[in-house]
Amino acid sequence: MIRISPSLLAADFSRLDRELDRVSDADALHLDVMDGIFVPNISFGPPVLQSIRPKTSLFFDVHLMITHPLDYIETFVKCGADCITFHLESDSDPLKTIEKIHSFGKQAGISIRPATAPEAVLPFLSKLDMVLVMSVEPGFGGQKFMESALEKIRFLRSAAPDMTLNVDGGINADTGRRCVEAGANMLVAGSYVFGAQDPSAAIASLRD
Ligand code: DX5
Ligand code: ZN
Repeated sequence: MIRISPSLLAADFSRLDRELDRVSDADALHLDVMDGIFVPNISFGPPVLQSIRPKTSLFFDVHLMITHPLDYIETFVKCGADCITFHLESDSDPLKTIEKIHSFGKQAGISIRPATAPEAVLPFLSKLDMVLVMSVEPGFGGQKFMESALEKIRFLRSAAPDMTLNVDGGINADTGRRCVEAGANMLVAGSYVFGAQDPSAAIASLRD
């Protein structure tokens, strides 16, 4: 089964209620948190997650693009995160961060930037619930898919046959299909889903 996680970054922030309704048949909601330091952009944070949590029953797939994720795990758990994915390139100790997420009974994921080799995830693989391969430089929606992600997905799928392998950046029906062929079983899509006239159809086209 392929799970689809629309990225709220591409939504109309002035009408979040309506935007959540448009993606209600997705499998998760991808929430991109940026601190302006780890990535050159600032998105949204805890107050936004807290306000939308009661409005949807979607699984909260939180993607932390922040420098010190370990310091904010408890905050994001309290905001309703179901899975917290942090970057291997952040300043926090990966094992401590995974343990902290698990101590609250939540799922833990590690994400890698395009320049990071997939081998770097291997020491943590057995402790993770998800790996998120970035197929664009993190920080902005609407960028072009980087082909180099496919090889990383193949590598990680052979290393972890049962792992949730998620891909993020430039995903549409074509790039999504190629990621799934390479071994991905979860797809994040921002502009492709929220920019569609019919987000349900866009979600279905990714699932197929
Ligand atoms: C980029 C974010 C992505 C972004 C994807 O830093 O992590 O989740 O929203 O947007 P699209 O699907 O438009 O490339
Ligand atoms: Zn993301």
